Amino acid sequence: MKYGYFDDRAKEYVITRPDTPYPWINYLGSEDFFSLISNSGGGYCFYRDARMLRITRYRYNNVPTDGGGRYFYINDGGDVWCPGWMPVKAKLDSYECRHGLGYTVITGERGGLKCSDTAMVPVGTPCEAHRVVLENVSGSAKDVDLYSFVEFCLWNALDDQTNFQRNYSIGEVEVIGSAIYHKTEYRERRNHYAVFSVNADIAGFDTDRETFMGLYNGFDSPDAVYENRSRNKIASGWAPIGSHHIKAHLEPGERKSYIFVLGYCENPKDDKWEAQDVINKRPAEAILSKFRTDEQFESEMEKLKAYWEKLLSTYSVESADEKLDRMVNIWNQYQCMVTFNMSRSASYFESGIGRGMGFRDSSQDLLGFVHLIPERARERLVDIASTQMADGSAYHQYQPLTKKGNTDVGSGFNDDPLWLIFGVAAYVKETGDLSILDEQVPFDNDESNTATMMEHLKRSFDHVPNNLGPHGLPLIGHADWNDCLNLNCFSDTPGQSFQTASNRESGDVAESVFIAGMFVAVAPDYIELCRRCGNTAEAERAKTEADKMYDSVLKYGWDGAWFLRAYDAFGEKIGSDECDEGKIFIEPQGFCVMAGIGVKEGLAKRALDSVKEKLDTKYGIVLNQPAYTRYHLELGEISSYPPGYKENAGIFCHNNPWISIAETVIGRGNRAFEVYRKTCPAYLEDISEIHRTEPYVYSQMIAGRDAVNHGEAKNSWLTGTAAWTFWNVSRYILGVMPDYDGLKIDPCIPDTLTAFTVTRRFRGDTFVIEVDNRAHAEKGVKSIVCDGSPVDGVLRSSGTGAIHSVKVIMG
Ligand code: GLC
Ligand code: GLC
Repeated sequence: MKYGYFDDRAKEYVITRPDTPYPWINYLGSEDFFSLISNSGGGYCFYRDARMLRITRYRYNNVPTDGGGRYFYINDGGDVWCPGWMPVKAKLDSYECRHGLGYTVITGERGGLKCSDTAMVPVGTPCEAHRVVLENVSGSAKDVDLYSFVEFCLWNALDDQTNFQRNYSIGEVEVIGSAIYHKTEYRERRNHYAVFSVNADIAGFDTDRETFMGLYNGFDSPDAVYENRSRNKIASGWAPIGSHHIKAHLEPGERKSYIFVLGYCENPKDDKWEAQDVINKRPAEAILSKFRTDEQFESEMEKLKAYWEKLLSTYSVESADEKLDRMVNIWNQYQCMVTFNMSRSASYFESGIGRGMGFRDSSQDLLGFVHLIPERARERLVDIASTQMADGSAYHQYQPLTKKGNTDVGSGFNDDPLWLIFGVAAYVKETGDLSILDEQVPFDNDESNTATMMEHLKRSFDHVPNNLGPHGLPLIGHADWNDCLNLNCFSDTPGQSFQTASNRESGDVAESVFIAGMFVAVAPDYIELCRRCGNTAEAERAKTEADKMYDSVLKYGWDGAWFLRAYDAFGEKIGSDECDEGKIFIEPQGFCVMAGIGVKEGLAKRALDSVKEKLDTKYGIVLNQPAYTRYHLELGEISSYPPGYKENAGIFCHNNPWISIAETVIGRGNRAFEVYRKTCPAYLEDISEIHRTEPYVYSQMIAGRDAVNHGEAKNSWLTGTAAWTFWNVSRYILGVMPDYDGLKIDPCIPDTLTAFTVTRRFRGDTFVIEVDNRAHAEKGVKSIVCDGSPVDGVLRSSGTGAIHSVKVIMG
């Protein structure tokens, strides 16, 4: 069942009923100011850091769900409703929510009045702007009362939810004309405040939640709105809010529009005040002056649209499959940008106060947007590498504001260092910029201990052979990609970390076949980077190490019909036919085949056939089978989840593309696409009532076949799935792959796809690549012609901005 439709021309998803199976959200903002907004106006905003500088309050896990947002209440002659349906839930005569790229338009109609709210965060100005349009679509004149509403967060989101003995006494606001200033803590250590204003005269305002709502009321029944009278109360402590009251007279057919702006303002530390207790309002003025008129609002919308248009046109496809096109051209790339901006901090499943940036997560997110803004990828790579230790290991997480590693989680996730090689190689292949390798980068953020980026990569690479177990396979440490496979932490105490409370470190023997596969997979890039730096001796040494690992995997990492997952702390196999539960895992099948292990021996095909036979479901490939049905002390968090959820046999969307890529390695385009399609949101739109999360973005996990609600997704938006699926579809399936000297073309597609065109901006030039597959091939390129001349090898960019016409014939 559908709850809306894709409007590809407008690059929007249009939701046509408000009671979606879960709040379906969008993100506004691309630089410093970010907002989450659901299809009913729920959500919140923050400046740079969702934990430290939260601007509005939001209640996670609330009853009803999606509690808190920016609400516009209408009182139309005693009839109270909201254009986004929530929180009043008065039945609407019509409703529509358009989630677009960086903006959302919510329109509701009731009793002959139409109200639409266009919400956006503009490029270059730290605010959330709303244009609210009231239109009288009835036959008679109307006097309408409009009330805005936001609830301020007292900045530190964690403290805001826990420290009530202090917080109920510190809230402060100032009101001048139509502008409400939230200035809690500004008197002492903060030099920032928020402003909430409207470009019209107001009939009244409210700034104290209890006065506006009534102590025993919910968001659905504010006293001020029902009694149709603002209280003009200046908040003192308790919960500061911002609410404007506007009175509008509308003749039949008349429209009136109001622009509300919620801005973040910062003053220099020594220029905070205009007078005693009166804040310096210059930064607020600067923001508000950009949104005084409809024309200004429209021009900001145009700028925003142009920003996304330019960004996403870096890679686009035209094919006969509209679902494929809309995912590649719009939503998958959009999600990659959001994931890059947010890391794992703020979504409807991440509270914005939890995890910092992950070393592994951020390195992977990069894969999805390096083609869009390579300069920011470069910056991010330096930040990430700066948290690496001198022995090559890496902090698992770091804080975005300080960029320092988190000591509570520490290091010892032994796949982490390798992701840096992946990320740097991706950047160099995109840009050709080898200078990043010479960049001086500190270890553990210690400026007195720096080395070149290339040296960082060497330490990343060596960290694996320096930490091998009894079978010559990499020691796993706290965990590898699978955070929940905790082979050295026998956790039996509630609340203890599954990952870090290691108690098996002496005689550490647990090994990971996944890391082995990953090592062999990244080795060619490390080797090539060494060569390009002129270090052939190191390149050869690395080749020898990779060959050794290849042999170790074949010798000790092959189980007969698939790759083993790991060896535990007792040297026992995990992911083997010999096990009772957890006989086979997805990760090593994906990464070992991506590394090319077992391809010539015929084992790769065997492993992928086993995946299909044992792990595949109609909604995607589950992580392992059979699911663990009891807690295994020696395996850790993975077996803490009920069967079918998360890492315990859930469909972890993140690693489904690994299998799809692996299929392209052995040339099976039909199967590669089948795997791609199963977890791809646009293809799941029709089963939204089962899938539940947004049909335009990926979720981290879909419940596996062992779960009661097989097919139900959770944790949408902030997942490595976005980057990996784009990496897969753009480079392996459609086959347009940046390489060190240019673009390699090698599609691996369903044999029914007879033609498609990819337009790719690359190092300054644009390549329009028309692929002809009338031969119904799954893989194999017969000829490539660029601007009339045959090409042997890669497409090279001249860097002049030239547009090249490329004809590719498969067969
Ligand atoms: C989550 C983590 C990621 C990890 C994955 C599997 O997505 O963010 O780092 O690899 O789970 O455990
Ligand atoms: C990953 C897993 C999650 C686990 C966490 C621990 O995000 O998906 O289940 O709790 O890692 O760090």
